[in-house]
Amino acid sequence: MNALRRALRYGFMTVEGWLDRAFTPALNPLHCLGALGWFYFWIVAVSGIYLFIFFDTGVHAAYRSVESITRGQWYAGGVMRSLHRYASDAMVVVVALHMLRAFAFDKYRGSRWYSWITGVPILGFLYAAGITGYWMVWDRLAQYVAIATTEWLDWLPLFGEPIARNFLSLAHLNDRFFTLMVFLHIAVPLVMLFVMWFHLQRVSHAKVNPTRGLAIGTTVMLLALALAWPATSQGPANLATVPTEVKLDWFFLWIYPVIERTSPGIAWGLLAVGTLLLMGLPWLPPKRRAAAAIVSLDNCNGCARCANDCPFAAIIMRPRSDGAPFEQEAAVNANLCVACGICAGACPTSTPFRRASAPVPGIDLPDFSIARLRDLTDAAGIRLTGPGSVLVFGCDHALDVKKLESKRVAAISLPCIAMLPPSFIDYALSRGVADGVFLTGCRDGECFHRLGVYWTELRLAGQRDPYLRARVPRERVATSWAASIDRRRLERELAAFVKWIEELGETTPVGSAVGPRLASEQVEAAEEVP
Ligand code: HEM
Ligand code: SF4
Ligand code: SF4
Repeated sequence: MNALRRALRYGFMTVEGWLDRAFTPALNPLHCLGALGWFYFWIVAVSGIYLFIFFDTGVHAAYRSVESITRGQWYAGGVMRSLHRYASDAMVVVVALHMLRAFAFDKYRGSRWYSWITGVPILGFLYAAGITGYWMVWDRLAQYVAIATTEWLDWLPLFGEPIARNFLSLAHLNDRFFTLMVFLHIAVPLVMLFVMWFHLQRVSHAKVNPTRGLAIGTTVMLLALALAWPATSQGPANLATVPTEVKLDWFFLWIYPVIERTSPGIAWGLLAVGTLLLMGLPWLPPKRRAAAAIVSLDNCNGCARCANDCPFAAIIMRPRSDGAPFEQEAAVNANLCVACGICAGACPTSTPFRRASAPVPGIDLPDFSIARLRDLTDAAGIRLTGPGSVLVFGCDHALDVKKLESKRVAAISLPCIAMLPPSFIDYALSRGVADGVFLTGCRDGECFHRLGVYWTELRLAGQRDPYLRARVPRERVATSWAASIDRRRLERELAAFVKWIEELGETTPVGSAVGPRLASEQVEAAEEVP
């Protein structure tokens, strides 16, 4: 399983790297797959409502009304029909990639099982919605789908009478059947919408809207497709003949050739095994779970920063229970906690400057405490020698920062880069631990803990508490977001930063705030230094 995940992850990281360079991380569709799924859902819903206004239910009326929508008002109804079809196809693609990506980046096991398990039924609803949609048009393709689906269902001992018989002649088929299909085609997506909402209950600040550029780009692409290649029907259904040659929509209807080539029983077997495998995947094998974050009420003032920053909705604020003069206190739900430490990075009491021998913040990780982080920082200061010394803070899920160490460079790896309270940067520079601080973690848009890189950037920019104090010399701080396959780039950027820091000389607390510089800018600046 590990080898498969690693190969897939390598593939995703490579393609994402290309797309980052081609479109920038903000416009990279692979960073927004869940959000694109929502976006396509809304396009399908809006275009579906339009089509429903003009759609007639009935054996003959259905086909006629769809033809009139497609040809009679090609500029509106025709475009809507095409958008409805192509956005549904696009949804299949992004949902499949979204699932594959969650698997590849190991974001589906441990406490994250819930999002995975609630995702699996969405796949079923998506297919049920698509297949009933093709059925409603009542053309040759619909006839093929209707017969193949009912024959497939008849294999199960569910119905007394074989339901495929309804499609043998017009005498058996009546308008009520189409009313049932319309009902199903509306009810299934509504249930799916509910499950999609349910799916997000354990992720906070879920990204349900793609960036504006991506939304515009994808809409323009769908519109262009709708105009260049309008969705059409494949001739009226004719129950007197068996449709032999139909053009399939391979996104939704690939199961029918499988049924034809094998047998209904084998196709049911494959579906059952596939579903069970998907459902069991988070426990094949289960993830070793690190100890959940713990709250120290003596140090918690109820500010709720930890709850606001936790990416997995694992912290609730509840009424104070210890009589301290604060309204609330933080409480961790250990079942939801992935031990990322982002809460400890957000807590105002996580400061290395405290005089107490071991700093104990309001919330902390038992396996990697803030006290240990300070010890490691102090130890790095003792080890580093010479001017141009740099302390690197990295993340366990990006590239291994320990391999970057040298005489001038010491590195500390955290469960997530956002576990680093900005006060540690201030501490490292003002206490002479190092002359420069270099932050690295997962690539922008690929953060293993979803929000770590984003929160870190906001904290450094002074836009989110706890922010980096103004007195910290920004020219001595650099960030570089890099995946494990970006080692060469990161090493180049770090070397340039070390050179830059050497030029600046040893630390003197200056108040100039020019903003944290991206390591890539420093490469350019260092190259300019004669
Ligand atoms: C209509 C279909 C789906 C939509 C619209 C959707 C949407 C989303 C969104 C918006 C997120 C939050 C992303 C973020 O902000 O980080 C998410 C998370 C997730 N989804 Fe889906 N999803 C869908 C189907 C699926 C399926 C089929 C699976 C897998 C079986 C799946 C597995 C996951 C997992 C594991 C996460 C959590 C990722 C993490 O913790 O970082 N989703 N989904
Ligand atoms: S360690 Fe991470 S998941 Fe756990 S409570 Fe803190 S922020 Fe939430
Ligand atoms: S951030 Fe710290 S002080 Fe604030 S509520 Fe959470 S644990 Fe308490």
